[in-house]
Amino acid sequence: MSNQVSILFHSGYGHTEKVAHHIAAGAKGAGASVNLVKIDADGNLSDAQWEMLDKSDAIIMGSPTYMGAASWQFKKVADASSKRWMTGTWINKVGAGFTNSAGYSGDKLSTINQISVLAMQHGMIWVGNDVRTSQYDVANVIPEDAMNRIGSYSGLMTQSHPMSSAEMSPPSGDLKTAEAFGKRVAELSAKLLGSK
Ligand SMILES: Cc1cc2nc3c(=O)[nH]c(=O)nc-3n(C[C@H](O)[C@H](O)[C@H](O)COP(=O)(O)O)c2cc1C
Repeated sequence: MSNQVSILFHSGYGHTEKVAHHIAAGAKGAGASVNLVKIDADGNLSDAQWEMLDKSDAIIMGSPTYMGAASWQFKKVADASSKRWMTGTWINKVGAGFTNSAGYSGDKLSTINQISVLAMQHGMIWVGNDVRTSQYDVANVIPEDAMNRIGSYSGLMTQSHPMSSAEMSPPSGDLKTAEAFGKRVAELSAKLLGSK
C-alpha cells in the first residue's frame, strides 16, 4: 500500500517553499510518495490539486507568518476545505503544520495553532515535531546549525533573516529539522496505513 504524503503550502517570497522541499526530501527518504501542492498567488488550487489532497494519507500544511497569522491565500484554501468537512473526506488523515517567519518568534505560534485547529476541525490526527533542540549545546553546535533552533514542538517553525533571499535562508539547522519532520510524519502515516 503506497503511503501518499502531500505538502500543502503557500509561499509569497520562496522561504516557506524552500522549507516545503526539505520536508518533502525527508518524507521521500522514509519511502512515501510525496506531492508538493502549492497554493497560487490568488489563494487557489486546481481540481487536480484538491483530488491529490483527498487521496493523501497525510497532509502537511504550511504558510508563512504574515501579521501574526497564516497568509490570506492559505486561509482562503482553509475556508474552501469546508467542502471536505461537509463530506468528512479528511477524517483520520495525518495532519501536521509548518511556518516560516522573519522574527525568531514573530508570533508564529499563532500560525501553527491556526493550522492545527484546521486539522482538528477535519478530524485529522495531528503530529507535532519530536526533534529535540540542540541550541543549548553551545560548545559543539553553532547557532545556525542547531536542530529545532526555534524550539517548537507543536509544529515545525523556521526563521529566515528579513533581508535575505530564499537562497540564503532559512539556515541549515532549520532545513535539516524540516527533513527530520517530513520523515517523522511519513513514518507515522505509514504505521497507521499498516494497521488499517
Ligand atoms: C505582509 C507580511 C507580514 C509579515 N508579518 C510577519 C510577522 O507577523 N512576523 C514575522 O516574524 N515576520 C513577518 N513577515 C515576514 C515573513 O514572515 C518572512 O519574510 C517570511 O520569510 C516570508 O515567507 P515566504 O517567503 O514563504 O513568503 C511578514 C511579511 C509580510 C510580507
